[in-house]
Amino acid sequence: MTSSTAPSFPFARPQAWDPPAEYDKLRATQPISRVTLWDGSTPWLVVKHKDVVKVLTDDRLSKQRNRPGFPEMSAGGKEAAKNKPTFVDMDPPDHMRQRSMVEPLFTREAVDKMRPYIQKTVDTLLDGIISEGGSKPVDIIEKFALPVPSYIIYGILGVPFEDLAFLTQQNAIRSNGSATATEASSANATLLDYIGNLVDKRSKEPKDDLISKLVTEQVLPSNIERSDAVQIAFLMLVAGNATMVNMIALGIVTLLQHPSQMDKLKANSSLAKPFVSELCRYHTGSAMATRRVAKVDIDLSGHNIKAGEGIIAATQSASRDEDIFSDAADFDILRFVAKEDGGRGEDWYQAMGYGWGEHRCVAEPLARAELEIVFGTIFQKLPGLRLGVDFGDVRWSPARKDVGITELPVLF
Ligand code: HEM
Repeated sequence: MTSSTAPSFPFARPQAWDPPAEYDKLRATQPISRVTLWDGSTPWLVVKHKDVVKVLTDDRLSKQRNRPGFPEMSAGGKEAAKNKPTFVDMDPPDHMRQRSMVEPLFTREAVDKMRPYIQKTVDTLLDGIISEGGSKPVDIIEKFALPVPSYIIYGILGVPFEDLAFLTQQNAIRSNGSATATEASSANATLLDYIGNLVDKRSKEPKDDLISKLVTEQVLPSNIERSDAVQIAFLMLVAGNATMVNMIALGIVTLLQHPSQMDKLKANSSLAKPFVSELCRYHTGSAMATRRVAKVDIDLSGHNIKAGEGIIAATQSASRDEDIFSDAADFDILRFVAKEDGGRGEDWYQAMGYGWGEHRCVAEPLARAELEIVFGTIFQKLPGLRLGVDFGDVRWSPARKDVGITELPVLF
């Protein structure tokens, strides 16, 4: 295929919740191909699980967005790529040096200690919804899916409780897609200013929180500058927020679409864990983040990729690869349950919802714990939870963006 005939990318989802049909076709016929982006550039698109793994573990490929040829998905992205990077856009050894400043907060042990706080946050928000009554539709995104991850990460960062509602609102304006560009960038600036002030406060009077840790362990010994600490804290605030909100809303809708699986979860809340793994496979979110550019010429499964050419590793497609997952298009709460317990016994780690390799989501244990607690609790507290609009009226993210839901009125 010549560059001029390379199809336009991102592909559109044919119906709101299914990945683009092109992925199935390409996996079968042309696992490594070219696509055309908004700016006319023609990076490679890699759709098979085995090749996505190769791309995301090859250190001859770079994540530095300021390198010529790095595939940017929009004009805004291209502009943002000029900013000073945080570790998400760095290569080794800088990447690990900065990533390790926050990693200890998200280990399984650290997250297990946070579980009671997460449970309390989830319970308090759900009790608030219950006390308002369920006879009129309530937007579960505004009242629940958005505050849960926001409140948790604010707790980790050390944002005072009284500012949570205001910051959550600014974060929603920044990322919900219905605000104007001016409103979104003003909300962005408000959040950055707020974090900057908090960094200054904690420099004078450290507490037991992430911002104080960054200041005392990194800024004061001159490992990083104040502006880096602000950017890292800001990254924590925004990196996973929209994805978390989407996964909560998608989880609710997916269970309503599969009532017998919902019954299984209601009857046995220990299924929340395999449910969350399957949810993050089936609806692989954050699927446009896994992009690279070649630093040197490489061979990728027989294709010659030249230095300076971009590559998009389609994690959403890899999560539906039949070589790895049986009946990959089916949602099955028992997929990752052991065979001896009646499940399919597949390996949850192979699902690409959190990426792969060195950049695999640093907060994965936290994100999973939040989702497990949400789905182990919500249908216990609201057993009659149902849509407050017709299924066809649920508002999904635009067809060429990451799968998500923007508004979800429910009754209970
Ligand atoms: C269900 C929720 C989440 C999903 C599906 C998700 C997904 C992802 C994916 C796919 C990547 C890999 C990106 C890449 O290769 O470039 C990633 C990286 C990252 N995620 Fe998450 N994420 C979630 C929640 C979170 C949360 C809650 C936070 C912060 C508290 C977070 C912070 C990050 C950061 C900082 C990175 C960059 C890691 C690196 O480059 O080393 N994520 N996430």
